[in-house]
This record gives sequence, structure tokens and C-alpha cells, in this order.
Amino acid sequence: MANDRDIIIACDFKNTDETIKFLDRLTRIRDEVVVCDDIMSGAGRPYVKIGMELFYAEGPAIVKKLKERGHRIFLDLKLHDIPNTVKKAMQILGGYGVDMVNVHAAGGIEMMKAAKEGLMIGAARFADKPKLIAVTQLTSTDEEALHSQLLIDKPMNEVVRQYALNTKKAGLDGVVCSAFEAAEIHAACGEDFLTVTPGIRFKDSAADDQKRIMTPAEAKLAGSDFIVVGRPITAADRPIDAYQRCREEFL
Ligand code: C5P
Repeated sequence: MANDRDIIIACDFKNTDETIKFLDRLTRIRDEVVVCDDIMSGAGRPYVKIGMELFYAEGPAIVKKLKERGHRIFLDLKLHDIPNTVKKAMQILGGYGVDMVNVHAAGGIEMMKAAKEGLMIGAARFADKPKLIAVTQLTSTDEEALHSQLLIDKPMNEVVRQYALNTKKAGLDGVVCSAFEAAEIHAACGEDFLTVTPGIRFKDSAADDQKRIMTPAEAKLAGSDFIVVGRPITAADRPIDAYQRCREEFL
């Protein structure tokens, strides 16, 4: 069965003030607090991603604050350590009530299983259990670095596929990958295995530092379950319009 699609806004801001300023702008139209009922109220508030910079600057308080405002949260900390350490850390993160967290699949199946165990212990009191996903290969690692630095001989697509299969075997919910890989990952791991895909740009927006990009509409056709969109929304003149455009193309 296909998964519910959603858009996750990457809140790559330095601190709480900047983040809240942006989210206030997103929910305001022409300086009045005019919110679009369907997308801005209650459970419909945008799904947001908190990354390392913001989390390390502000700590768990930022998670609490955004949850109180009604956002669902993907806490993108990409854990990678020995199984016991990851299990204990995940237990803490699970207690924050986040909706999605991640690890590096390179940590191996045992580490991913431990991550899931810890997360579920931490999230025991929540009815909605958080999703746990894994990063396959960072999109900043190219084929050349894979071979010459990591000494992995197999082609990138085989490595990504194997890491996705390992992730599924460990009982996780899905992977972070490029939208270009979503179809192959679904073919290998099943339609209900989540593909969470950054590298999204509108037809007319700058690629910035992203190399392999797709529009929200193309990502939908490619089978992405979640798109992670940062600058096309956060740096837009009117973030609300950019977010609406993503919704129109992707949902
Ligand atoms: O601004 P932009 O849309 O490029 O933001 C994409 C977000 O997704 C950033 O937070 C980035 O760190 C994250 N990401 C990525 N590529 C990956 C994994 C995460 O762009 N492979």
C-alpha cells in the first residue's frame, strides 16, 4: 500500500529566534495573522526538520517549542556509534515526542536494531510512535569518493540498495535518499518502505549546492513519500506561497 505523502520544511536556522521568525512569517499573510485553516491549524501545521546546527545550539527546548506550536518534527541528527550508545541516545530522543529521527545505515544492522529498541522505549508513553529512518549514502559522497576514500568497490546504486535492504531488515521504516533512487528502493524494499527525499527545487528556482534535483511534481512521480524542502521555501519572498506550491505539486 502506498504511504501518505507529506512535505517536510528544513528549518536550517541558527537559533530559536530565527526559526520562530520564519514560522511566524509562514503562517502570516500581509502582516496580519491570517492563517489558512486547512494547512495551518492543529495537526495540519507544517512538518518541520530540525538539524544538527539548530539542535546543538538550542537543545531539546527547540523541539518542545515547535511541538507546542503544533508542528510535527523530524529530528535529523543522523546517529552513528556502537549499538549500546545509539540505543541509549535514541531512548532520550524518543522521550522528546519527535515524529521522525534517523541514523546512518553505515552503522550496520545491529546498530539500527538497537536504535529502534531504544527509540521505542523512549517513546513508550506516546500513542503515535516515531518513524525511524536511515541515511544510505550522503548525497555529498560521489562515486569517486566511494571508491577512492571509502574503498567500496560496488557502484553507488548497489550500495544504496544494499543499505536500504539492511535498514528494512533491522525493522526501520525507511531511508533518506535521492528522489532518483526512490523507485529502485521501493522495488527492493516494498511500497510501504518510506523514501524521504531532499534535493527538491521548483523548475524556476536556483539549485544552490544541490546536484541531483527534482521538482515536487517529479518527486511525486518518482514515488517519494516525503520531500524535504529547505531554501525554496525558507528563502522565498513569500514562504507561504512556496509552501502552497509544493503542496499543489506534491500532495
Ligand atoms: O535548502 P535545501 O532544500 O537544499 O535543504 C535540504 C535539506 O536536506 C538540508 O537540511 C540538508 O542538510 C538535508 N539533506 C540533503 N541531502 C541529504 C541529506 C539531508 O540535502 N542527502
